Amino acid sequence: MPERILVAVAWPYAGPRHLGHVAGFGVPSDVFARYQRLKGNHVLMVSGTDEHGTPTTVRADKEGKTPQQVVDFYNQEIRKNLRDLGCSYDLFTRTTTANHYAVVQDLFVRLLERGYIFRQTMMGTYCPNCQRFLPDRYVEGTCPLCGYDDARGDQCDNCGKQLDPVDLVNPRCQICGHTPDLRETEHFFLNLPAFADRLRAWIENQDHWRINVRNFSLGLLTEGLQPRAITRDLEWGVPIPVEGLDDKRIYVWFDAVIGYLSASIEWARYIAGDPDAWKLWWDAELRPAARSYYFMGKDNIVFHTVIWPSILMGYNEDRRVPEPPLNLPYDVVSSEFLTMEGQKFSASRGVAVGLTDFLSRYDPDPLRYFLMINGPEARDTDFTWAGFVRRNNDELVATWGNLVHRMLTFTFKHFGMVPPPGPLDEDDEALLAAAAAKFDEVGALLDMCRFQAAVKSVMALAHQANQYLDHKAPWATRKTDPVRTATTLYVILRVIDDLKVLLCPFLPHTCQRLHEYLGYDGTIAGPLFFREVTEPNDRTHQVLTCEPDTWVGRWAPSELPAGQALRQPEALFTKLEESVIEEELARMTAQVAAQIAEAG
Ligand code: MF3
Ligand code: ZN
Repeated sequence: MPERILVAVAWPYAGPRHLGHVAGFGVPSDVFARYQRLKGNHVLMVSGTDEHGTPTTVRADKEGKTPQQVVDFYNQEIRKNLRDLGCSYDLFTRTTTANHYAVVQDLFVRLLERGYIFRQTMMGTYCPNCQRFLPDRYVEGTCPLCGYDDARGDQCDNCGKQLDPVDLVNPRCQICGHTPDLRETEHFFLNLPAFADRLRAWIENQDHWRINVRNFSLGLLTEGLQPRAITRDLEWGVPIPVEGLDDKRIYVWFDAVIGYLSASIEWARYIAGDPDAWKLWWDAELRPAARSYYFMGKDNIVFHTVIWPSILMGYNEDRRVPEPPLNLPYDVVSSEFLTMEGQKFSASRGVAVGLTDFLSRYDPDPLRYFLMINGPEARDTDFTWAGFVRRNNDELVATWGNLVHRMLTFTFKHFGMVPPPGPLDEDDEALLAAAAAKFDEVGALLDMCRFQAAVKSVMALAHQANQYLDHKAPWATRKTDPVRTATTLYVILRVIDDLKVLLCPFLPHTCQRLHEYLGYDGTIAGPLFFREVTEPNDRTHQVLTCEPDTWVGRWAPSELPAGQALRQPEALFTKLEESVIEEELARMTAQVAAQIAEAG
């Protein structure tokens, strides 16, 4: 019986995005979603750009734009990158929609009514010259830990430690340079301690979580939870649904996590055309219960194992019909970090490859492959151009691409169709059985989000298929033994067809092409496209979506029929010249130099 699976992908900030971002959650979540759909499960995959908070206002100040202009630009760019990379969101939206504001405010009010959100005065950093409270990022000064001069109120970029603005030595206002003082300001706090016992009991039960996620989260509880401020003195964000607080906004993290829910609601209303459809993935009382998988980098764990579950628990106490209680996360899949040629990614230092840039020169599937086979799934890993070129040439081109290309061209030329086989021998049976067994084996790995092991296991089958061919040499038997040749080609096409499905979650673009060369109609990985959503306030925004219900793939051994007409094949992958490595490294060196020059 098909299951319902929510694939909830961390929301990228509306700023410049690089390979590190898609390595941690973009590609893994898409591989998972595509696999679940092939298995026949009903997947809802949602995310969007995370547009509020001081990263946006700081950038707007710097570029002389409004925050709205900044996020409009990056929303469009990221949406396009994700489409080009083939991330098959049912809905990729943004946090500046009327729907999102309404859902966030609704949850805020319900938690407020139940006392889980309370109001309290605290000391805030205030600039007497600008006459405003300064968000953490707007205070600069010397880091008390490492002595770095340009530390920010929220963290030191030199030593990486989290800071509080009051810790800074010689603090100054980032806008005007004046020394700020401390004044009383009122804020709302999420009462996390009220959830501590429930959180612990819940997390202790999550035996299927990755051990680092579970231990890290339990560690936070052992250290003790504090109430957390969830509003800021800022004008860019979701307004607080309480009278008289026009100069404050809801804190970006509080609104962003609620995006998983609001995006599901938006999808139901505007894409599915059934305003209640989201409940199939969220209603905690449905049986069988849907399972929700959250994908993110390790710096996001606390928000998904502590803060978001607390919001949900508080909300779930409010039982006014007809709203259902909502599912807590089933799994929280966190990844480690990707570095770039041995260094930390840093757009501001030029150590990065932007996605737009990358995808303008290279195909998406080799990148997806590299990030899956060498991604930061269980430990930090490094992106190197040499490694990328090698994986592309030795594995995608040599092992998989050549197998397909040689066999399809040969068969197309001499038969034009899937050849009808004679009797199968032991080798034939063994290879077909090995391929068929992969569906359970690889499926089990993907169900556990063990992507690297899964893709390696599939590539081992491609390798085995090559060995079979070396042994059977159909090009040599064609004249002497036509029946044997037809049989070998039949078997190898069946196995290529198996590999097509097994690889489809990882390499959707090339597997779709292969699907067509094998003579099939329909899509196993259809197009992604933009759609316009118009809300009742008449504002429109573009979203990324796809139509997975029309996709025909099945996670099951091939039933490729003998006699099916083939189509003229073309190579699936392109060999990269070694010179690419030097060129790309030079490009990065130039980027770093340009950033240093700009910083003066
Ligand atoms: N924007 C955050 C980041 O890039 C992730 C937000 S995930 C969400 O680190 F849960 F808040 F949506
Ligand atoms: Zn100032």
